[in-house]
Amino acid sequence: MKVSKKVAGVEYAIRDIVLAARKVQQKGMQVDYLNIGDPVQFGFQPPDNVKQALINAINNGENYYSTSEGLLELRQEIAKKENAKGLSISADEILVTNGVSEGLDMVISSIVEEGDEVLLPGPYYPPYASYVRLHGGIPVEFAVDLDNSTPDIDDIKSKITSKTVAICLISPNNPTGVVFNEKSLRELVDIANQHNLYIICDEIYDQIVFDEKFVGIGKVAGDSPVIVLNGFSKVHLMSGWRIGYIAFNNSPKLDAIRENLPKLARVRIATSLPVQHAALESLRGPQDYISNFVSEIKKRRDLVVKRLNEMPGLSCPNPKGSFYAFPKIENDRFGTDKEFVTKLLESKGVLTVHGSGFGEQYGSGHFRLVYLPNLETLDSAMNKIEEFVSQ
Ligand SMILES: Cc1ncc(COP(=O)(O)O)c(C=O)c1O
Repeated sequence: MKVSKKVAGVEYAIRDIVLAARKVQQKGMQVDYLNIGDPVQFGFQPPDNVKQALINAINNGENYYSTSEGLLELRQEIAKKENAKGLSISADEILVTNGVSEGLDMVISSIVEEGDEVLLPGPYYPPYASYVRLHGGIPVEFAVDLDNSTPDIDDIKSKITSKTVAICLISPNNPTGVVFNEKSLRELVDIANQHNLYIICDEIYDQIVFDEKFVGIGKVAGDSPVIVLNGFSKVHLMSGWRIGYIAFNNSPKLDAIRENLPKLARVRIATSLPVQHAALESLRGPQDYISNFVSEIKKRRDLVVKRLNEMPGLSCPNPKGSFYAFPKIENDRFGTDKEFVTKLLESKGVLTVHGSGFGEQYGSGHFRLVYLPNLETLDSAMNKIEEFVSQ
């Protein structure tokens, strides 16, 4: 039977690679899973007050369809959070989604038509390219200096064509941990305004930064056509509950999308109502669980980056945020990055993700690993990687 070419072409390297790991496990080898960026699979849990809010909502009978845009109190609390980061919006500019993933799908499907181009930071989180392609568009990668955490503005300018509709930013970034500073964000907003482009900015890791204060796109947005994507999977440790949101900046240029995109929210009915109550509690309740989580994973980052940089043939810029390291494979002794990752998995049982899965142009020749496991597991995985690259 027929399947569409669009669907057959969808890839998601982070999960696709697990099939290879299962085969290795079936042969009796233990596998260290350093592929999935899910803190909850590594022992971090939402705090008790948040879990209790979910249970209470269920027990209080909040088990029906929510409104499509989401609970008013939750949207008000989200607007407060985004306004503290620099936007100036109300609950009306927020739409609650089933994770950033659904929000991204809604935004891309609202703005991309056949042949339209969308600029993505190289390397990027894979669903950005998948959704652009799925909706008939063309993902175009722009260069980012991974050592200095800066976008290459000239490269972006040279890649803007009459077909370009948007610039996507992910800060802090998956897979590189790059965080853009205020100056870079300002330059990006200026370019977008000059060329009449949307800025779509994914800030799902906004509170997971280690060395410098985070600056969100809201701080420099003014009245530009900025759309923020954010959610509760990472900072708030609610990955399995599937909740996120779209925040529209107060910009007249966004009037058309603000009118049309909510139709997609109505078609998919709503997000889970009990989970929305839990998300509300996670914003209103004590926030110390976030700083505890971040200071814990900072230790893990420091260990992993130090160890990787001591290994022959690898170099790893210091990630400023999120929970990924993106080392460069300095020689092609192991073949392509995909071959490197496969051989590492098959010989040592360490599962990472090939860099080209995050964009061929700038991801190739790298691999990504998550530093969420505890220090002991990470140290042992680092020993295995060291043995592998030293052979
Ligand atoms: C940059 C980025 N955006 C979005 C997501 C997925 O978010 P959600 O769980 O809210 O769908 C991830 C998950 O890894 C991510 O790294």
